[in-house]
Amino acid sequence: MSSPEANWNRVWERSKQTGSYSYIHSRLERSMDKVGYFISNGVLFQDGDRVLEAGCGDGLVLLSLLRLFEIQGHGLDISVSAKERAEELMEAEGKRFSYDIGDILAMPYPDDHFDKIVCLGVIEHFHDPAQSIAEVYRVLKPGGQVIMMTPNKKSLGVLDRKLKEWLGTWPFGYQTEYSPKELEQLMTARQFKILKREGLLRRRLPNDNRTVRVIGNFDRMMNLFVEDWGFFSYVFATK
Ligand SMILES: C[S@@+](CC[C@H](N)C(=O)[O-])C[C@H]1O[C@@H](n2cnc3c(N)ncnc32)[C@H](O)[C@@H]1O
Repeated sequence: MSSPEANWNRVWERSKQTGSYSYIHSRLERSMDKVGYFISNGVLFQDGDRVLEAGCGDGLVLLSLLRLFEIQGHGLDISVSAKERAEELMEAEGKRFSYDIGDILAMPYPDDHFDKIVCLGVIEHFHDPAQSIAEVYRVLKPGGQVIMMTPNKKSLGVLDRKLKEWLGTWPFGYQTEYSPKELEQLMTARQFKILKREGLLRRRLPNDNRTVRVIGNFDRMMNLFVEDWGFFSYVFATK
């Protein structure tokens, strides 16, 4: 079995392959969507804010933030291939940011360092997420804000993941899912004060493949009846 680093490097090396997770076009659109979601939830990115994306991959969420705000952008990830990709993308737009290769379980930053931390699609890859959440808490300034996202247990996406694992085509190594309430509980156990939790649907995009469309349609229907049903679990919190 390969290491998580090797696994994630393979994922990020496929960014030019249509239909892959790291395919640039769909990722760019989804990243801008995510930033729109943060803003519509009242997160104020101020000039000079020190913003960390922990487990940032190709840095597209950071890039989308840097297009809109005069923030100081910092990315951290274990994947060297992700860093190379992020650097290409940032350079193409003339954006300045810093990117550390490092582990979210022991981040190379002092306590109380960041104004905002975004951590999307990372902690569900750990058998025990408590240490990663404690690290995010440690490096966030008092009064700072964190946006945490994982795949939602209340989504047909879970079945898709299990099926792909069974078929041997799941590319991301270990993954689990949390409902918004479970994610909230993980964060309150680490002292965070919760501002909001939500099960969020994934927006339809023109180049979605059939599996994504089926999951989206099923989730949209269930969302009418079941609280917090949606592809993503989001928690907005403060320290
Ligand atoms: C599903 S991707 C999410 C990328 C990005 N946050 C986004 O939402 O577009 C998960 C990322 O977490 C990174 N990752 C996994 N384990 C990590 C760890 N222990 N420390 C830092 N990053 C990690 C992977 O390399 C990968 O880039």
